[in-house]
Amino acid sequence: MTATFTSILDLRSALEPHRAQKTIALVPTMGNLHQGHISLVKLAKQQADIVVVSIFVNPTQFGVGEDLDSYPRTLDADSKLLAVEGVDYIFAPTVEEMYPVMPPPTQVLAGEISQKFCGQSRPTHFDGVGIVVTKLFNIVQPDVAVFGKKDYQQLVIIKQIVRDLSYDIKLIGGPIIRAEDGLALSSRNQYLSENERTIAPLLNKHIRQLAASLRDEKINSQTQLQALIDNMKEAINQSGFRVDYLEVVNQDLTQINDFTDDKAWVILVAAWLGKARLLDNQEV
Ligand code: PAF
Repeated sequence: MTATFTSILDLRSALEPHRAQKTIALVPTMGNLHQGHISLVKLAKQQADIVVVSIFVNPTQFGVGEDLDSYPRTLDADSKLLAVEGVDYIFAPTVEEMYPVMPPPTQVLAGEISQKFCGQSRPTHFDGVGIVVTKLFNIVQPDVAVFGKKDYQQLVIIKQIVRDLSYDIKLIGGPIIRAEDGLALSSRNQYLSENERTIAPLLNKHIRQLAASLRDEKINSQTQLQALIDNMKEAINQSGFRVDYLEVVNQDLTQINDFTDDKAWVILVAAWLGKARLLDNQEV
């Protein structure tokens, strides 16, 4: 039986009796659930006795002019999906419940890492993610928290927050779940027109090609790496996207300086296709 709470106090009261004997996993979401989220729920169930899924379209992580108002809100359908998965608790607070004062004067800033990549075009995005995830951790006090690797930068930032704020939480990164044609599942895919949906999988195809070149070719310098990136950017733009950024970095998101290593790198990409800003990544 899945119970839904909108109040922090009620959720805390429901979780309290479990704490002594059972482990608790949290899966934070903004709802409009798809199989990507469900895969995170399944991971959470393997990791802990009690699973809490939060559903909250967090206003503080949307910038001015972004899709906060149009972001799909589908609590009834989401609740049905989560009940089938045997989720114990859904936490679906209102904005007032999460943020008694809006915007919240208290901030959780992750520093330099939150200004790179997605942070360049969304400069306040990760500040909003920082405060909401911190609040969810404080409210649920989970033993385990599961996030998707599609939002690779988000996961690295949350790892940093857990380390720096001494949370005793095991973080799990769930693999990207893709449609058969390779498109990473995302709630924002529904902004794609029918024609754009046929183009969208090319983004993954392109970064897989880049990953293959990075594996196969001997790369000795940033200049050489940058030339491959620039060619691929051009190819992605030619396919009908507008690249926001395409970067190859170490898996902790630091710049690659050591070209002798065994290439534990990741390709990060964000590209616009019509109204949708698509994110993808590929470990090399
Ligand atoms: O990845 C998301 O859906 C959101 O950024 C998160 C982690 C639920 C915070 O609002």
